[in-house]
Amino acid sequence: MTESDFTAGFYSDDALAIIGGEGAFVFDAAGKKYIDCVGGHGVANLGHANKKIASAVQAAWENFAFTTARHPHPIRAKFFEVLAAKMPFKKSKFFLCNSGAESVEAALKMARLATGRSKILAAKRSFHGRTFGALSATWRPEFRQPFEPLVPDFDFFAFNKIETLKEKIDAKTAAVILEVVQGEGGIYPIDSEFLAGVRRLCDENGALLILDEVQSGICRTGKFLALENFGGQPDIVCMAKSLGGGYPLGATAFRADLFGGQNVRGRHNSTFGGSVPACAAGLAALEFCAAENLCEQAAEKGAFFKTELERLASPKIAEVRGIGLMLAVEFKIPAGEIVAKMEEAGVLVLPTGPKVIRFLPPLVISKEEISEVVAVLAKVLA
Ligand SMILES: Cc1ncc(COP(=O)(O)O)c(C=O)c1O
Repeated sequence: MTESDFTAGFYSDDALAIIGGEGAFVFDAAGKKYIDCVGGHGVANLGHANKKIASAVQAAWENFAFTTARHPHPIRAKFFEVLAAKMPFKKSKFFLCNSGAESVEAALKMARLATGRSKILAAKRSFHGRTFGALSATWRPEFRQPFEPLVPDFDFFAFNKIETLKEKIDAKTAAVILEVVQGEGGIYPIDSEFLAGVRRLCDENGALLILDEVQSGICRTGKFLALENFGGQPDIVCMAKSLGGGYPLGATAFRADLFGGQNVRGRHNSTFGGSVPACAAGLAALEFCAAENLCEQAAEKGAFFKTELERLASPKIAEVRGIGLMLAVEFKIPAGEIVAKMEEAGVLVLPTGPKVIRFLPPLVISKEEISEVVAVLAKVLA
């Protein structure tokens, strides 16, 4: 019997069994080493086998099995305090959960609760998760269609084209939801002017702005939140993936006055959300980011990586795009074979659409490792 005899079959098959890792490397069962530019789909920002995260979780875990977040705990309080200092709000509040889709679900429910409206506008090419609300805000028809009818009152506009949002937004709109850098859609950073225009249209129509930083957050783009690169001023921010340094942890952050005087008790909840081990992991992750200047590392190494990719100047490359260590190469040829050949040569990359590969390495990757990745790509394209 193998694993594939038991799994639901939703994941695409990958024969590579990864059984360990260290920093920006992972190892397979035969001990072969790979430079990991998949980075657990953006979860492993702080590097594999990060001892700070492991010991923080273990220490919390050894204390008790579990209590829900209705009971205050000093580790959670400290985590909130440190995270709040990084948010784009004068005063922040949070809902803690376990994944990106959950953080989006909470944001969508918050928007409906705060405005009393139902309409949500999302961008074409967006990805916000697979649960019903998050899926309703996700663009790709092949993800959506098998599950229709989805949540009503969702509509789409073109990313980075303000005119198309102007046509859709109105006094019934609860919120506009946007990724700051579209990740699953192929690594498309938002335009600052567009983002300012979205804010203006939201204000004019009494709608909220939700920024999804699930993939782009936690130093990935050179800032703690990618919105800092583009002057983003949201009402709600979604985070997950690397927030717990690899331990499942999501957060929906919002400005403290979002609900006005409304009593929202019992309106949303999660058994595991904000568990003490998760908050210990989150706190350790935030401390690691600060101690290691992880955002600065991502900015500097990302700029180096992008320049090296651009220098390849292969006729098979259509475009190099992205920001920080959230990069993509679009090819004029199918990406599948390139991904397979790179894996053979010891580099893991992520296909994103038929002709695009994505690089989401741990932010602790070295410049030497980046050079090796680019050299392998050059060889594969030769
Ligand atoms: C921008 C964005 N939002 C939400 C999600 C959903 O996160 P999760 O898979 O943890 O539910 C993802 C996952 O890739 C994402 O990239």
